[in-house]
Amino acid sequence: YITPEVPAPLNVSYARTSSAWNKAHSKAAAYLSDWTIEEKVQLTTGVGWQIGRCVGNIGAVPSRNFPGLCLQDSPLGVRLTDFNSAFPAGVNVAATFDKDLMYARGYAMGKEFRGKGVNVALGPMTNMARVAAGGRNFEGFGADPYLSGWATELTIRGMQDAGVQACVKHYVGNEQERNRSTSSSDIDDRTMREIYTHPFLRAVQADVASVMCSYNLVNGSWACQNAEILNGILKTDFGFRGYVMSDWSAQHSGVVSANNGLDMTMPGDIAFGDLRSYWGLNLTQAVNNGSVSEARLDDMAQRVAAAWFLLGQDQGYPAVNFDSFRKGGSNDTHVDVRDDHYKVIQHIGASSTVLLKNVNGALPLYKPRSIALIGSDLGPSTVGPNGFPDRGGDDGTLAMGWGSGTAEFPYLVDPLEAISLQARHDRTILNWWFQDFDTEGAATWATGAEVAMVGINADSGEAYITVDGNEGDRNNLTAWHNGDGLVQAVAAVNNNTIVIIHSTGPILMEAWIDNPNITAVIWAGVPGQESGNALVDVLYGSYNPSGRLPFTIAKQRLDYSADIIYVNSAEPEFTSVEYTEGLNIDYRGFLSDNITPRFEFGFGLSYTQFEFGGVNVWEIGDGDDSYGWKSKRSTHKGIAARNNGSGGQSGNNTASRARAGQFLVDSLQKPRWTVSVDVTNVGDVNGCEIPQLYLAYPPAAGEPPKVLRDFARLNLDPGETKTAYFNLSRYDVSIWDVVTQAWVVPDGEFGLIVGRSSMDGKSSKGSFYPG
Ligand code: NOJ
Repeated sequence: YITPEVPAPLNVSYARTSSAWNKAHSKAAAYLSDWTIEEKVQLTTGVGWQIGRCVGNIGAVPSRNFPGLCLQDSPLGVRLTDFNSAFPAGVNVAATFDKDLMYARGYAMGKEFRGKGVNVALGPMTNMARVAAGGRNFEGFGADPYLSGWATELTIRGMQDAGVQACVKHYVGNEQERNRSTSSSDIDDRTMREIYTHPFLRAVQADVASVMCSYNLVNGSWACQNAEILNGILKTDFGFRGYVMSDWSAQHSGVVSANNGLDMTMPGDIAFGDLRSYWGLNLTQAVNNGSVSEARLDDMAQRVAAAWFLLGQDQGYPAVNFDSFRKGGSNDTHVDVRDDHYKVIQHIGASSTVLLKNVNGALPLYKPRSIALIGSDLGPSTVGPNGFPDRGGDDGTLAMGWGSGTAEFPYLVDPLEAISLQARHDRTILNWWFQDFDTEGAATWATGAEVAMVGINADSGEAYITVDGNEGDRNNLTAWHNGDGLVQAVAAVNNNTIVIIHSTGPILMEAWIDNPNITAVIWAGVPGQESGNALVDVLYGSYNPSGRLPFTIAKQRLDYSADIIYVNSAEPEFTSVEYTEGLNIDYRGFLSDNITPRFEFGFGLSYTQFEFGGVNVWEIGDGDDSYGWKSKRSTHKGIAARNNGSGGQSGNNTASRARAGQFLVDSLQKPRWTVSVDVTNVGDVNGCEIPQLYLAYPPAAGEPPKVLRDFARLNLDPGETKTAYFNLSRYDVSIWDVVTQAWVVPDGEFGLIVGRSSMDGKSSKGSFYPG
């Protein structure tokens, strides 16, 4: 089953932590060698809510020439300032399935954070979209750990290459907003390893500077004082060498959190603005009385300082030049950091647009004589792009969710504006109707138009803002503002109805998707400031759609394997959120339960067609059996000792762990097999195909029928053939064995499936025996 000839040399660079950390830690150790306990404590404790200029601030230590640290949201741009860009949300860049764009977005955002003087950008967000209604899913990278893992790694590499420290969040199991601070995400060990912590491993492999622990409890213990996930999985197993910061007020103890792996408390006070702290003076006291060892404090401070050195922020880093909370003050010099980032924003907007349905040659549009735009989602908001603080409202076109995962729009190009310009060029007559509940008016304007375009949306966000009764998470999965009614009213009178969806996650569309008068459907996510321009690129075919769904769209809500636990938030009580679906989130659940969704994960149409050749697989590397990580176990202990500094092991259940750093060793992560498939553009226009590699484990392994491992994006002219290559490491074909606490390659034949989506009936298949 292994193809005999060796393929052309591949770039087999792969993810693992770099030696740059060693240097950074040595510098930090030397720098801190004569700091007092009080000074070191200062590196661990924020100054308090809204006291500094950024959402989080570590104070300066002038006697040591330490200027302090500015920590600022968000995962899609610099929050609470101006002259910044509003990038496409994480869910959009995931939908591009394009590694270059993931990196490019990270790099451009990183430049903007740096330009504003932000030391630590509070992103990316890589929770797993376990539940379709999850309020903050738009901030993250979709519902598969490998898609999310690639996006996390490449975003961080981009951001950190631009000089800003990334902070990957929320670690871990912060999958619903409802009762986020009073619920325990109860996750079994294998699911934790294979799904929820995987993107964080990829973050560590990208040398991420910091990790934010989440509000929720994990298996009954607060995430920010959970020794198993902090000292255990993150610092010991993954060998993470940066610092763990708390989410804002997610710390619940002083001594316990310090000993169990937390390194920095944010924003510093216990409750926002109460001027009390679990750390600060209390941490000094705890060190002085021995409840926290000085070695542990040294480790905390060294991790924070090492990250600062790692990114070279000790030399020539811009000073903070904005103020999140005191607008218009002299602290704010309104530095324009946008450069030409609108280009990459529009590009990602177009590349992330997913064409779900296209019949009768409805799209691309070619000089239509008349268009009716129906639905407020296609026009501007009545209160302007930034009218709702932290975007906490749904009015006009939706280009961002709400909460801390936002930025101010510098402007927002809505579909009406962009289509108007195109209409001028094409001499199209353009009318619109934006009163969503007046379906008679909608029908009047839709009647007789050559194209009736209906824009609908569904919004969600972070729990501290409630919009239309949605406390962060969505209450239902249908379109907002009478969306279904509007689509039905228009489709009743116009047989060329095109539906545009802007949403933070999946919406249900059974009410109308099969209506033959609906000729095209587009999901455009939450694309940021160039929304209308990106949409026009796709509608008119200057960009051939290649976006793919980063989640599954079900026929009904019950078909998803997991859902929000809605607990009365007025009377919070501690809730268990049991992750009983285990490995079967999103498409994995549909495959395991044999449920047909409407549109599956990975799905998306193009204006051209592609054919796939057969699957080839090669064994690469030296084939040396000592590759097996088990045989190198003794070395791993050495790695652990280095990785964790003097105090990193203070969690009492981790001292004897023998598995330290195993994720990072060559034997586990180094590419060991290469899989390839030829893809040919058999249509008549240029376009990109996204071949996706899924693995089918032997049945006894207990995995879902198929799991994504890699993807590629090939740009092909008509008639052209290119080869997609994918690498697999031993880790990629392993399962987490909870008994031996090790990654194990199951015995037996593995299927290799390269297809256009997670359920592509025409996918190419191969197999091999990696065990
Ligand atoms: C709470 C959010 O959960 C987190 O993502 C954000 O970075 C902080 N607030 C700071 O705004």
